Amino acid sequence: MNPAVIPPRYDPARDCDSWTVDSSHRITYQIEICPNVLDLENDRLATWCSSGNNRVDQVLVVVDREVDRLYGSLIRNYFTRWDFAPTVLVMSGDEASKGLSAAEEVAEKMGEVGLLRRSEKVVVFGGGVVMDIVGMAANLFRRGVPYIRVPTTLLGQVDAGVGVKTGVNHGDHKNRLGTYYAPLCALIDPTFLSTVSERHIINGLAEIVKIALVKDRDLFELIEAEHKLLSSEGFASNTPTHAEIIRRAVVGMLEELEPNLHEAQLERIVDFGHTFSPSLELIADPPLLHGEAVAIDMALCVAISTNRDLIDRATALRIVRLLLLMGLPVSNSMFTPDLLRNALVDTIAHRDGQQRLPLITAIGDASFVNDVSPTELHNAVALVEELEIELSTVSGFLLPDAGLVRA
Ligand SMILES: NC(=O)c1ccc[n+]([C@@H]2O[C@H](COP(=O)([O-])OP(=O)(O)OC[C@H]3O[C@@H](n4cnc5c(N)ncnc54)[C@H](O)[C@@H]3O)[C@@H](O)[C@H]2O)c1
Ligand SMILES: [Zn+2]
Repeated sequence: MNPAVIPPRYDPARDCDSWTVDSSHRITYQIEICPNVLDLENDRLATWCSSGNNRVDQVLVVVDREVDRLYGSLIRNYFTRWDFAPTVLVMSGDEASKGLSAAEEVAEKMGEVGLLRRSEKVVVFGGGVVMDIVGMAANLFRRGVPYIRVPTTLLGQVDAGVGVKTGVNHGDHKNRLGTYYAPLCALIDPTFLSTVSERHIINGLAEIVKIALVKDRDLFELIEAEHKLLSSEGFASNTPTHAEIIRRAVVGMLEELEPNLHEAQLERIVDFGHTFSPSLELIADPPLLHGEAVAIDMALCVAISTNRDLIDRATALRIVRLLLLMGLPVSNSMFTPDLLRNALVDTIAHRDGQQRLPLITAIGDASFVNDVSPTELHNAVALVEELEIELSTVSGFLLPDAGLVRA
């Protein structure tokens, strides 16, 4: 609103019992690719942590337990080298421990350390689980203190680490309690990926394929051409191909998130693969990783697109084939008609009364529909099954040395 037209808040000449408050809050944060972030000569993280105060800066470093085992001494040495007084809190990165009490534990530590409210920082090293917990704690503590993310998984580096969502699980629901709270920065260091298990690399690749499918055909084709090289060592060595995949995925995410950081617009193409998967992810047995559940959801939605003639069968086969070649699942016996119906009901509430279901209309393009029926869901499950059988039997679709791997 133009400030010139705002009437005076108190006008003795007239009674007024109603006031409009109209304010906006600028959000700026930095995403940086920062190889070797813990190298003792690399000052990027130290610069971000520096308070500019005339005292030894405190920093609360929250570290995923596995990351602490692998990198804990490097982390401690780094902060000591740059003259910080670090307090390290080690936390479980297990999805099962991603509850409100974990965020409370971080808040408790913040209180103990006595960080200066605006100038001293919390730094989190880990995957999406600890980043989501710490982001939420940082948002709740004194209604917001600064924090820095150092994502150490592929999924963390291309997805959880680059947006502003924080959260913890609640009841049977993923991230049911959460906030939007930007970090000061996210420093993406691909060298951490050398120790990430292949299953978790593939998990991150699922989100990269998602971005490729909804908006970046070249990225899809790059992954298709290079999928055999997409290992933890490959990403950690940061070859031009791996660097391009990470950059394209980050840029794709940011292009979608930046104009819609607080999800005012509920039609989000980045929700592709995230309609039915949240209901499956926490109950699947054997358990599924986030990206694996997303892959199953993406395959289902590809089948819906095919049955609606939005894409042809050859395109559907091409996509499902790539998911399988990468080692992602495309179906799950728990994806029953009941689960799919209930998942859709929950998603409709989440998307404020409408399905707003992103479907691809080509590799690299998507649009939204609001009228998917239970019969369509049933037919889509059947089509995924058919495509899987076709891929496993028709010669030429699977490369000779590629196995069909299921989670
Ligand atoms: N906030 C968001 O926008 C957003 C987006 C996507 C996903 N998420 C959340 O992220 C979580 C999944 O994240 P994730 O896939 O990173 O899982 P994660 O945080 O559970 O990490 C996966 C595993 O890798 C280990 N690990 C982490 N870094 C490692 C390293 N460098 N070397 C060896 N092991 C390492 C962890 O200990 C853990 O066992 C989910 O809870 C999901 O809801 C959030
Ligand atoms: Zn996701």
